[in-house]
Amino acid sequence: MAYKRPPDTYDVLPYPNVKEPWLHTAKWRFVEGVFREVCGRYGYKEIRTPILEQTDLFKRTAGETTDVVSKEMFTFEDRGGRSMTMKPEGTAPVVRACIENGIFATHPTPKLYYIGQHFRYERGQKGRYRQHQQLGVEVFGADNPAIDAEVILLAMSFYREVGVKDQVLRINSLGIPESRVKYREALRNFVRPFLSEMSEEGQGRFEANPLRMLDTKSPKELELLSAAPRLIDFLDAESAEHFGALQGYLNSAGVPYEIDHRLVRGFDYYTRTTFEIAGASLGAQNALGGGGRYDGLVEACGGPKIPGIGFGLGMERCLISLEAMGVQLSIQNEETVQVFLITLGDASLVEAPAVKLLSQLREAGISADKSYRSRKFPQQIKEADEAGASYTLILGDSEIERGVVQLRNQKTKEQTEINLSEIVGEIKKISILSKNF
Ligand code: HAM
Repeated sequence: MAYKRPPDTYDVLPYPNVKEPWLHTAKWRFVEGVFREVCGRYGYKEIRTPILEQTDLFKRTAGETTDVVSKEMFTFEDRGGRSMTMKPEGTAPVVRACIENGIFATHPTPKLYYIGQHFRYERGQKGRYRQHQQLGVEVFGADNPAIDAEVILLAMSFYREVGVKDQVLRINSLGIPESRVKYREALRNFVRPFLSEMSEEGQGRFEANPLRMLDTKSPKELELLSAAPRLIDFLDAESAEHFGALQGYLNSAGVPYEIDHRLVRGFDYYTRTTFEIAGASLGAQNALGGGGRYDGLVEACGGPKIPGIGFGLGMERCLISLEAMGVQLSIQNEETVQVFLITLGDASLVEAPAVKLLSQLREAGISADKSYRSRKFPQQIKEADEAGASYTLILGDSEIERGVVQLRNQKTKEQTEINLSEIVGEIKKISILSKNF
């Protein structure tokens, strides 16, 4: 029996019913390439953190009452009896890695980016998977709202350059924990009269984490909360000034945005600026990406008292968006074979020189392949076409005897005889001269 993943859980990943998964991989690589390029231009350096972290890291940073921590983490006990979690998000692991490696002592303002797999036990649907890839950045040590603007501009540049054209930027400010105490009370007072009309989940949030009530997707709750007090009216003076400055910078950079008073985001570590980028073509899962400031997080993880800000963008949602818009990605087909070697006749005479020639071509930087299935000419020619080869080399007994090989242009079918000792140099010449090689 063929082995299959449980259909209701993981069948969407890593390749949703794709017949040629390598084409899907090429799209990932293209998107990753644009992201790396944009991050490089903004002066960000790549960091890679492990998939497994101690569970406590996420409990302590994202917050125990958040959906991610309370019901979506892949958590297990390792053989040493430690509770480990497959990272559901990238920020806490980056903070942990920087503290552990003493990065903040030598680099006062590290600007970092990452590309990696993240895991959340969510109900699978389009744009929501149990394993997803995030492209993210984190910047530490800068209070200045200009860095908030930079991080947002970086995300917007990435989407523009990758080809997403319908992105909408929404921003908000959550202020500081002290200003949120008053807001929480105001929100509870507002909701109390109709608390029984809220869902069970909403009622739970009322008690445990009232700001989370604003994050509801239920139309009924949205209606009930439509006149709720706004966080922005409770901001401390410094946060209000910070938020005003950010808007000024976005205005001067010509980036349109909306202020979304309900944008609280899904983790407890956020302070002040939060933002999300939505894609109109994404439907219900319309957050292409999001992030915000987390000024107390490094200290909460045992590091120095320094601020931070970052974002995470979903790879799969980006691709869904591009597909919905009919954008053709300019995927470079690095994996197309340039030269296909056809071997004919007596295998005991031909195969050894063929293996040698193939390896000489590859060592000379030419992508080359041969058939391992057939010794019939038409079938090998067909394989060469399927591989996308521009040229074939034909090697049979008579060529071996004369120390030559036939060079065949697959498009024009023109054939030339060339000395075996000269063929690698000849092909290199063609590859330099020809753009479509
Ligand atoms: P997040 O909003 O939870 O933020 O995730 C960031 C992005 O990852 C989402 O906007 C979405 O595109 C994608 N994403 C999340 N979960 C899934 C899923 N189950 N399936 C597909 N895509 C998904 C964070 O994780 C924060 N660490 C971002 C951040 C960085 N904030 C500050 N720095």
